[in-house]
Amino acid sequence: MDAQSLVFQLLTPEGRADPYPLYALAHELGPVSPAGDGLILVCGYEACRQALREPGMGADVNLVTWGADPAQHPSLAMLSRSLLVANAPDHGRLRASMAQMFTARGVAALEEDVVRITDALLDDLQRADGAVDFMDAFAFRLPAHVICDTMGIPEADRARFRGYAADLMATLEPASDPACHEAGLAAADRAAVEVDRYFTDLIRARRADPGDDLVTSMLSARDEGLLRDDDELVANLASLLLAGFETTTHLLGNGLRLLFEHPDVMSGLRDGTVPVDGFVEEVLRHDSPVQLSNRVALADGVSIAGLPVPAGTHVLLLLGAANRDPARYADPDRFDPTRDDSRPLSFGGGAHYCLGALLARLEATVAFGRLPTRFPGLGPAPGAAPTRRDRIVLRGHASLPVVLDARETAGI
Ligand code: HEM
Repeated sequence: MDAQSLVFQLLTPEGRADPYPLYALAHELGPVSPAGDGLILVCGYEACRQALREPGMGADVNLVTWGADPAQHPSLAMLSRSLLVANAPDHGRLRASMAQMFTARGVAALEEDVVRITDALLDDLQRADGAVDFMDAFAFRLPAHVICDTMGIPEADRARFRGYAADLMATLEPASDPACHEAGLAAADRAAVEVDRYFTDLIRARRADPGDDLVTSMLSARDEGLLRDDDELVANLASLLLAGFETTTHLLGNGLRLLFEHPDVMSGLRDGTVPVDGFVEEVLRHDSPVQLSNRVALADGVSIAGLPVPAGTHVLLLLGAANRDPARYADPDRFDPTRDDSRPLSFGGGAHYCLGALLARLEATVAFGRLPTRFPGLGPAPGAAPTRRDRIVLRGHASLPVVLDARETAGI
């Protein structure tokens, strides 16, 4: 199979459901391969790492537009103003407008909140009678409450963001079927209008009555000129909110699914023989919530792993494949939380390296440090299979039904 067919296969329902066999084929093609139409496919770990950090490559607005016109779509207009797709010099000021909260010190200050929210959600889970959907009851709620707390979004308003986030993040998915893409864009546009209205009102409220939260601090950044106008402020608040929970939700879901598949790791977490931070790194490597990222060559003269990349070339980075590169990891398909020096590329790299990486790791470490001990019998709900979302960029579960005492349910 050549690289172009491989990209096509990845976008089919089968490729989205299980991209890993295709990644193995990609590694046989080599770390970098031309994939036609000005596109280059990168799957090697070192090649991906180099492309992410290469100053001659930048964020690719195509990552959110996929060729559609932002002027026609509120969702694409909003996402096009976000730091995710900005390049120098704009990227630096957009990132500076929000970075303070996500430094090591900023995230350490959030630990108490993360622990409190986790314990409260586990208390709620304890009260569940029979099977419960882990995605709904825990995986969505923990990161959503944490990021909403930092932003000062009231509890009553939080549930609605789940639907908005799913619709807006769908625009990041490359579509093989234009009709599906159009339908997805219509939903994303409706969500963008609602999110815009919500944040515009919230900004007005914080201007009148400042708080100790991210919206207030980004308002100061706007007043200091780091953000150009209210559209830019709203777009970057929205990006932060969406990036803040859609991704971590799937780290938690993918992690629990892996624990069910590896009961020895579950007991190792419980008795302390498997380190929880090693477990979280291995979930990130083995089944990354973000599978793809993009770059574009900003000028001539750039090459990746020896392949020249002319200006304007789009570069598709298979982060999930890089994390399973046999040249980087021994026995890459084996789930092994004791690997040394793992450093998966799941949070990207270079100027756009995930701003929330420390926070996501903190949330997952607190959650997986508690779940196996708090519920020693936690297991998959009998007769209710987990369902995967039909997505390739954000890989995770639509539902993951669990019972708190699988032994009791099985009649043991
Ligand atoms: C497991 C959870 C997460 C994963 C796997 C993840 C992954 C990523 C990836 C792959 C990128 C693009 C990096 C690149 O292209 O080099 C990114 C960017 C970003 N992430 Fe995350 N992320 C996660 C959680 C979070 C959280 C919790 C937040 C915020 C609270 C966040 C905020 C951001 C922001 C703002 C950017 C854009 C950074 C920039 O363009 O400068 N992420 N993330």
